[in-house]
Amino acid sequence: MATVALDPALPQTIREAFAHIGTVSAPTIADFKVMVLVEAASETLYRRTAEGTDHAGVIELLHANGREEMLHARRVSDVIGLLGGGDFPAPAAPDNPYLANGGFPFSPVTPDALRKLSVGEFDGEALYERWAATIDHPAAADLLRANGREEVDHGNRLLQAAALLEA
Ligand SMILES: [Fe+2]
Ligand SMILES: [Fe+2]
Repeated sequence: MATVALDPALPQTIREAFAHIGTVSAPTIADFKVMVLVEAASETLYRRTAEGTDHAGVIELLHANGREEMLHARRVSDVIGLLGGGDFPAPAAPDNPYLANGGFPFSPVTPDALRKLSVGEFDGEALYERWAATIDHPAAADLLRANGREEVDHGNRLLQAAALLEA
């Protein structure tokens, strides 16, 4: 698969994409596509983040979050299909335009930084709930809510990782 072509109307970098999705309350198909790319890229960003520590338990928690972000990308891709938006599969890292520069760590691996990162994950649940509430398709809404519930798990894993670093 070649790198996914990025519509010029969509955010062109992952930082812009993160900023954009946080402002969306009633998502369009284009917004869901951005979310697929952001979630898929997040697996790599969690891997990069995990490179910031030698603590095996913390690495495992960060990788667990990362693996689930790719699952989230696949669910959002399914949502696009259910809503009639066509085929938009979650890309592997080399094909993801938001990883064109190789990606970066979400944050340093320190207790404070991980706690701060957890806030973004907990906000992710609220975002998915909002999105689920605006779409008139129960099965698609269920997929979004499943992602939202797991964002809470991600936030809790980050808090757990912060505690491990302080143990
Ligand atoms: Fe996610
Ligand atoms: Fe997450």
